[in-house]
Amino acid sequence: MEPWIAPSILAADFANLGREVDDVVAAGADLIHFDVMDNHYVPNLSVGPLVLESLRKHGVTAPVDVHLMVTPVDDLIGAFIDAGADIVSFHPEASEHPHRSLSLIREGGAKAGLVFNPGTPLTFLDPLIDAVDLVLIMSVNPGFGGQAFIPAALDKVRAAREAIDRRRRDIRLEIDGGIKVENIADAGAAGADTFVAGSAIFGVPERGGARADDYRSVIQAMRDELAAPAE
Ligand code: DX5
Ligand code: ZN
Repeated sequence: MEPWIAPSILAADFANLGREVDDVVAAGADLIHFDVMDNHYVPNLSVGPLVLESLRKHGVTAPVDVHLMVTPVDDLIGAFIDAGADIVSFHPEASEHPHRSLSLIREGGAKAGLVFNPGTPLTFLDPLIDAVDLVLIMSVNPGFGGQAFIPAALDKVRAAREAIDRRRRDIRLEIDGGIKVENIADAGAAGADTFVAGSAIFGVPERGGARADDYRSVIQAMRDELAAPAE
């Protein structure tokens, strides 16, 4: 599968969010990763469906990958699909009935994703794999951008790759957290095909802000790393 680079808006300049998203799309982003945090499932608060709706009204047509870090899950699924989500993913332990949540997403017309924290076993995937379109492996604990990559996530990516290949279905395998130009090739070699990157693309806002001039070169450097033969 063609690798997809998914900038996470969590590290963008929220005062200029429409322009930030336009800039990363112009710089070659394949999809926009939209992190939703509720100060309940994770100890942070971010944005809701109104913000996605505003981006669509602003003219953003790129696919949007909504990562729900919320509990309960189901009430927000319809709201995000109505707001313009293409993919909606959630953490199975945050839902009372993950199969029902996956079905709600697909019935709403979006692709459905299941997210695995560093401490969540992949066993959740076995009974649900036919109901998912995307598996997201967290390589940090959810809640904040700019955290260090947890190397054990690569083993989980490898295991998820095997499970997906056994099903012979078109399922995306995404990795999220601490992905940089320096480690993206390792994630690709482990089997990931979709790469979330927040601070690597937008910069760390509290340390100097976003630099639109660099988005294209960072995204291109990531693609070059993924295309380079393994050492
Ligand atoms: C963390 C979020 C990530 C985050 C990634 O809870 O799910 O998407 O924005 O940010 P970086 O790339 O800075 O680790
Ligand atoms: Zn995320």
